[in-house]
Amino acid sequence: MQAWAMAQKQKSRTISFVPTMGYLHAGHISLLEKGKHLCDELVLSIFVNPTQFGPNEDLDAYPRDIDNDLRLAKAAGVTAVFLPPPEEIYTENYQTRVSLDHLPNFLCGKSRPVHFGGVATVVTKLFNIVMPDKAIFGKKDYQQLQVIRQMTRDLDFSIEIIGGDIVRESDGLAMSSRNAYLTPEQRKSALSLSLAVSLAKQAIAKGETSSLAIVKEMENLILSFDQTAIDYIEFCHPETLEPMNCIDHQAVLALAVKVGKTRLIDNALIDPSQ
Ligand code: PAJ
Repeated sequence: MQAWAMAQKQKSRTISFVPTMGYLHAGHISLLEKGKHLCDELVLSIFVNPTQFGPNEDLDAYPRDIDNDLRLAKAAGVTAVFLPPPEEIYTENYQTRVSLDHLPNFLCGKSRPVHFGGVATVVTKLFNIVMPDKAIFGKKDYQQLQVIRQMTRDLDFSIEIIGGDIVRESDGLAMSSRNAYLTPEQRKSALSLSLAVSLAKQAIAKGETSSLAIVKEMENLILSFDQTAIDYIEFCHPETLEPMNCIDHQAVLALAVKVGKTRLIDNALIDPSQ
């Protein structure tokens, strides 16, 4: 992969990069489409990264369908797919990790303490292997996008980080490879996340500024659906991710909800002035 990337550099060909864990859906494809127009070459990586899963998380169950992924990649105009076996990424006696001091202490990082260190480590390695000019990440994983932006600045990667909008099912559910775990009954409950975000937007449009009051309303709505358990609902500063109590300027509303055993996330940028 690195030899191929170097050969492109020598030919002055630029590289767009979309890292994924596979089981591609329209959200991933939208990032590929974005990347395709930005550079001469478009690289997709598919790697279910073990270091970003906690001990009781779904590493072994994570859905995989490489043949379909490769078909979709080809149709999306990908010029190279990087599909490394885990032992080539984490070689014997692997010892080095990338960690951030602050951003992982908020939102998903609280219940997934090893997650963002694993993401930062693997993305650093992927950046060094693929050597992209631009890398595209989805806003669906808002905290991850902020972690990658921060890490790119902190470690002087000469890579432009681009955010792609959240792609949703027609009823509003944010697309996710993990949606494949949901039973038909749970699929109905999964809609509670985007419905709660809409409810919050309505409250803010009516002039409500107390995050406490809005979160309470959202909790009531979500818990009225079967098999839901709230991990967090938070308004936070769009860059620092610090919690915000008064929604009088731009904020990100982020939430994580377990539906059965499946942990789902969603978020929206909130601008009370609009
Ligand atoms: P994965 O969950 O496969 O997601 C790959 C990329 O697709 C991420 O940037 C994610 O934010 C984006 N994405 C997922 N669902 C989306 C949606 N509905 N709309 C828009 N974009 C969406 O995120 C990871 O993999 C991993 O943590 C990774 C960055 C590859 C590191 O292992």
